[in-house]
Amino acid sequence: MSTSGSTPLGQKAGRILSGIQPTGNLHLGNYLGAIRNWVTLQQDYECLFCIVDMHAITVWQDPAELIRTTREVAAGMIAAGVSPVDNALFVQSHVPAHAQLAWVLNCVARIGWLNRMTQFKDKAGKNRENASVGLYVYPNLMAADILVYKATHVPVGEDQKQHLELARDIAQKFNIDFGKVVFPLPEPVIRGPGMRVMSLRDGLKKMSKSDESDYSRLNMTDDRDAIALKFQKAKSDPLPLPTTDAEMEGRPEAINLINIYAALTDKSHAEVLADISGLQFSAFKAKLTEVAVNVLGPINAETKRLMNDPAEIDRVLARGAEKANTIAAGVLKEVYDVVGFLPRA
Ligand code: TYM
Repeated sequence: MSTSGSTPLGQKAGRILSGIQPTGNLHLGNYLGAIRNWVTLQQDYECLFCIVDMHAITVWQDPAELIRTTREVAAGMIAAGVSPVDNALFVQSHVPAHAQLAWVLNCVARIGWLNRMTQFKDKAGKNRENASVGLYVYPNLMAADILVYKATHVPVGEDQKQHLELARDIAQKFNIDFGKVVFPLPEPVIRGPGMRVMSLRDGLKKMSKSDESDYSRLNMTDDRDAIALKFQKAKSDPLPLPTTDAEMEGRPEAINLINIYAALTDKSHAEVLADISGLQFSAFKAKLTEVAVNVLGPINAETKRLMNDPAEIDRVLARGAEKANTIAAGVLKEVYDVVGFLPRA
């Protein structure tokens, strides 16, 4: 696909791999931090987008629900504008090379590196001894997702930055250990006011699928009433709305709502502050509801339409896996040869 201002077909700017967990509803953080950027980047890059079900089971998932949410995430991505024709849109467990490369990378990554991963500490909590081994080596599987395609760019929200740095370290160590540049060092692509969408209940916590309170996040499947209610209940502070950047300091909830508004309307902070100047929080929240409904409403409706035909979603995902497998199997073969695994006769 080539649109005005994008790179002509055949001259792609690089190869993108990104992933998303099917652990529940897609939420506004996923959309503003990742999916919306994927839609833009797909014009200029060769893209592979992966629904990472193997990552999902690092914490307990109900099997029937996992199948449903895997399809729903695929439908949500397509509804948001990710093209399953121009890109490979697929399910991680459908491409065995991810797990196979992950094993090799488990032998390259150092325990000390994994011990520094803050997401493991957050997710394992106090009961670290009882966390799954999968949760601990989660970042190695993520590195495999990226490196098995020799991806050059990885668009993610800011919360994934540390994992990407680890993927780069693993790639570099592999190249040095085996004296051959097999893997390019993948560049993170983290941008826009949506790169860090915070909880609606606590401006210091990221918006997340795993937050117990559904009021903490806007799900991509929420209807107008749910969106209005969640913004109404969203935490704010007793001060009037800020009118300058300086007045935003130390006010995480106000900053978050302003960032969300800026991201949804594609406006700068200055433009947003001008738009909302003189309003009460309640009136600002009503405006926010309108812009969110405008953006999310059509995506929500299209997701529901696509979910009426699960067999078609499965066919789309099978085609994506085929494309992905072709690349991944070649890279895995190269890795196996470099490592010294005896080729099968
Ligand atoms: P996941 O499923 O938690 O989130 C998917 C994408 O959404 C972004 N995101 C956010 N961005 C801004 N604000 C938020 N509150 C927010 N919450 C989520 C994430 O940064 C991510 O880009 N480990 C990854 C999945 C993964 C992956 C990969 C990503 C597996 N393999 C390879 C890139 C490349 C994760 O749990 O994302």
